[in-house]
Amino acid sequence: MSDRPHETVLLDVACDALMPRAGGLYLDCTLGRGGHTREILERSGPDGRVIALDRDPAALAAVRESLAGYGDRLELHQLPFSRAAEALAGRKVDGVLADLGVSSPQLDDPERGMSFRHEGPLDMRMGDDVEETAYELVRRLKDDALADVIYEYGEERASRPIARSIKRAIDEGAMETTKHLADAVHRVLGWPRFGKPDTATRTFQALRIAVNDELGELERLLAALPSLVKEGGRVVVISFHSLEDRIVKHTLRDEPAWQVVTKKPVEPDEAEGERNPRSRSAKMRVAVRRAEEGEQ
Ligand SMILES: C[S@@+](CC[C@H](N)C(=O)[O-])C[C@H]1O[C@@H](n2cnc3c(N)ncnc32)[C@H](O)[C@@H]1O
Repeated sequence: MSDRPHETVLLDVACDALMPRAGGLYLDCTLGRGGHTREILERSGPDGRVIALDRDPAALAAVRESLAGYGDRLELHQLPFSRAAEALAGRKVDGVLADLGVSSPQLDDPERGMSFRHEGPLDMRMGDDVEETAYELVRRLKDDALADVIYEYGEERASRPIARSIKRAIDEGAMETTKHLADAVHRVLGWPRFGKPDTATRTFQALRIAVNDELGELERLLAALPSLVKEGGRVVVISFHSLEDRIVKHTLRDEPAWQVVTKKPVEPDEAEGERNPRSRSAKMRVAVRRAEEGEQ
């Protein structure tokens, strides 16, 4: 197993969009390995502060060491970002960054069970606030409901035969590992061919999104943000698939608290795409907090 460090996507572009100011207070909803957080701390001067969240205890443990030098300018919370208000405890911030999805260390850890590239238990939970594993989910859902999850969150047209194949494997006692899940998909869509994307990609994405309620988390975060950001403060969201991007686009456009800055989403340039293939699907949207009615 190669353990890739997490390469931060749109590092400078996202921090340029956030425009950290000296002495500002910022919320990083998705700490990961701390790439964006470090850059915000660097750009916001000796009095700038970041409150950073991650639901994954491994992310917090790694950053506690690597960013220890920033002392109490960095405040860490193990929380799902839908509960950002708890971490802020009444404070308002000058800007918010959310770099959604999973990190490379999460994908590369076989014990997390997130990838068909590594054999491990069929878990997929990002943090210990998530109760149900992917294995438990596929056992609990009836065929139709499982097919709906695979169709909706994976945009997978062969969702029904894949759901049946998964259920058959459960009956045969062969659905406990990521390899079992990949095999169940490959039995329907064919075995991976060299140089082609693995046909199990969409099903893995769908189950990961469902296990972690990723879209619900995003909707609840976006609903909470207007009351957490100061007037003139900025929100920067980087998403990695169309389902997330659609939610970000519509919420920022339809919520009167936001003035959208990015008419079109910003994407990594060619050089970043070459260097970091994971970045290729990234889309960044930015908005500024308007004054509340009645405010100057
Ligand atoms: C793409 S990585 C962030 C990388 C980070 N920007 C960096 O520079 O290293 C996404 C991180 O967000 C976390 N995450 C995803 N969804 C979350 C949620 N709903 N609440 C809290 N953390 C979440 C994941 O555990 C992961 O560590």
